[in-house]
Amino acid sequence: MQCSWKSMVLLALASIAIQYTAIRTFSFKPLSLLCSVGLAPTGHAVNCSLRDLTRLGQETLEASDQGCDEILPQSPSSPSVSLPSYNANKRTHILILATTRSGSSFVGQLFNQHPEVFYLFEPLYHVQLALLPRLAQSRNLAERRVILGAARDLLRSLYHCHLGSLESYIRPRPANHSTDKLFRRGASRSLCSPPVCEAQLGREGQSLVLSDEGECMRRCGPINVSLAADACRAKRHAAIKTVRIPQISDLRALIEDPRLNLKVVQLVRDPRGILASRIETFRDTYRLWRLWRATGRRPHNLDLGQINTVCEDFLRSVSTGLARPAWLRGRYILLRYEDLARFPLQKTRELYRFLGLVLDHSVEDWIINNTRGSSDLSSRQKFTTVRDSAANAENWRVKLSFDMVVYTQTVCQPLLELLGYKTVYHPRELRNLSHSLVEDRTFLPFF
Ligand SMILES: *[C@@H]1O[C@H](CO)[C@@H](O)[C@H](O)[C@H]1NC(C)=O
Ligand SMILES: *[C@@H]1O[C@H](CO)[C@@H](O)[C@H](O)[C@H]1NC(C)=O
Ligand SMILES: *[C@@H]1O[C@H](CO)[C@@H](O)[C@H](O)[C@H]1NC(C)=O
Ligand SMILES: *[C@@H]1O[C@H](CO)[C@@H](O)[C@H](O)[C@H]1NC(C)=O
Ligand SMILES: *[C@@H]1O[C@H](CO)[C@@H](O)[C@H](O)[C@H]1NC(C)=O
Repeated sequence: MQCSWKSMVLLALASIAIQYTAIRTFSFKPLSLLCSVGLAPTGHAVNCSLRDLTRLGQETLEASDQGCDEILPQSPSSPSVSLPSYNANKRTHILILATTRSGSSFVGQLFNQHPEVFYLFEPLYHVQLALLPRLAQSRNLAERRVILGAARDLLRSLYHCHLGSLESYIRPRPANHSTDKLFRRGASRSLCSPPVCEAQLGREGQSLVLSDEGECMRRCGPINVSLAADACRAKRHAAIKTVRIPQISDLRALIEDPRLNLKVVQLVRDPRGILASRIETFRDTYRLWRLWRATGRRPHNLDLGQINTVCEDFLRSVSTGLARPAWLRGRYILLRYEDLARFPLQKTRELYRFLGLVLDHSVEDWIINNTRGSSDLSSRQKFTTVRDSAANAENWRVKLSFDMVVYTQTVCQPLLELLGYKTVYHPRELRNLSHSLVEDRTFLPFF
């Protein structure tokens, strides 16, 4: 039986009660669950029968052993008993867990620039668009579960370089494994360089992703998903950035999957900074906040949920991480964006040490070129936003009105304390940029 993908969208919402219970029960195998209620995507190599599902599981296992995951020659004499150890042979999967306007593009670049890392920028965009096109963020718990189940399943496939899984979610459906609709393809170096993109790239064959994302989209033509999967397999490690997973606990099934070797970099930022940045960026959604800022009066119908959600999700995740549960041991690192902005090289080295990866000089060069240290403003105007945001992590203090700051502080108080962001009590204190509102804190990963 082939299962129709369209019917999945309809039925997923119709049979939400079944889904809810079932996904809770089978969170490890959301795809097989979707099959069991007749909802598996077509073209995803799945036959909806028990026998084939079992085989699928085996195939995934084999593929990951032979293809993506390199088999390690076990060296019993290895002196590296304590973690973290540099083990360049072990394929590491990195997830950047972030929210919009928290600096995640910058953190993504710390991996995208590494020649041995295959990087994807927000593949879950397609899941959300296919399943809940109209909702930016579902507050309905059951719907959220359905999306998260699909998201986890896709992430697992992508880390194993089964990029074909993504095709089920892309609209229009790719023909012959070829599409020009892959979201932010240009943000991934691997997807803009040979062999995935054979177009004559900039002078001296430099990959265009460095200069301009749009140029990659224009000159590389539709992406051949099979070639992209090959490129993924050719890299030692893979990193995925997403702002569509709310909390660390949503990733538990993946983190506990021993074949995946997943490590999560949770990126947090002062919610007041996130708010200021979103007001500038998402002009429609945050229209009423701009009105508040302009008039000095808070609109009655202001959507307070937007900032509440950020703080709640952060608070739950960070509390979970700081409680050091066994399932996060060696798999979780907390990174404050403000620390990265102030000490980009040092923080990047810490990240790589935690991941057990060797930091490549191209990453260091990129940081030097794209942060405050850079005097090379003329080279290409690319990444001006990155450069600005790195330099101006506390810029929000001159962009939000004092009332807005006070309001956000009230809602987010427990989180501010937990992360070491200082509360301000007076406009003078807010605008005096010579004293930082970021307390010195060290959040060490635990092993
Ligand atoms: C589905 O099952 C049929 C018949 O058993 C088989 O020929 C086909 O290859 C299967 N497809 C997949 C994707 O496993
Ligand atoms: C897909 O490939 C086949 C064979 O190469 C070709 O005949 C067909 O036109 C292609 N379809 C599209 C939509 O490009
Ligand atoms: C995509 O790449 C594969 C593998 O190299 C090749 O066989 C296939 O013909 C390519 N498809 C298209 C549409 O170019
Ligand atoms: C950094 O800037 C120098 C000088 O403009 C350039 O040659 C180099 O390619 C840049 N490196 C990176 C990684 O952007
Ligand atoms: C700004 O803060 C600094 C350091 O806390 C303090 O020395 C200075 O007096 C403050 N300036 C104003 C105008 O409040």
